[in-house]
Amino acid sequence: MDVFEAIETRRAIKKFDGSYKMNSDDVTKLMSHVILAPTSYNQQNWRFVYVTNQDVKEKISIAARGQAQPKDGSLVIVLCGDMTSWSTEPLRYWKNHPVEKQEMVAAALKRKYDGNLQNQRDEAVRSCGMAAQTIMLAAKQMGLDSCPMVGFEYDELAELIKLPENHLIVMMVVVGKRAEDAGVRGGQLPLDKVAFENSF
Ligand SMILES: Cc1cc2nc3c(=O)[nH]c(=O)nc-3n(C[C@H](O)[C@H](O)[C@H](O)COP(=O)(O)O)c2cc1C
Repeated sequence: MDVFEAIETRRAIKKFDGSYKMNSDDVTKLMSHVILAPTSYNQQNWRFVYVTNQDVKEKISIAARGQAQPKDGSLVIVLCGDMTSWSTEPLRYWKNHPVEKQEMVAAALKRKYDGNLQNQRDEAVRSCGMAAQTIMLAAKQMGLDSCPMVGFEYDELAELIKLPENHLIVMMVVVGKRAEDAGVRGGQLPLDKVAFENSF
């Protein structure tokens, strides 16, 4: 699928076909493309919990205040940020490059994130946002649809996925076969209200 077409036809689907199940090759294909999403310093600070188990998906629907997408979608991907990525073996993020480059990046990561929770959280949100859109566009390429979601009880979802310490749930994305088209778009703001050439 053409990228412009994928962008234009991606919609937040509310009703998924509960009988459709992605096979494990498709799940692997999707996830292996998602990890090509960009991250600052290539620190790959996202962590994905991809839920295929129907019982768990139903519990996620309950945590999502009764929203049906998690239980009826084929795959629920919970996008989390690891706020310690900057300090966890940082040389591996540039392992294909000379050691000088690896050490330079490790030092830069330390400068930016050490003791700075705000920067750690911001980076988690940025990286997961990039990954979320990558999931949704890759799903289109695979003939599937998606719904990004933040309408859930954070603590309930954290318990369900056994969220480790120093990790943050950023959002989830449900992927599956649409059972119903999305409604008319809410209404995009005019381009000149949101995009400014050179400065505000
Ligand atoms: C971060 C985020 C959280 C969202 N949470 C929910 C949600 O919990 N439930 C839902 O039905 N839609 C959710 N949406 C979908 C938005 O309502 C939808 O993307 C928006 O209305 C634009 O519609 P479109 O995606 O079809 O273009 C969310 C979207 C984003 C980006």
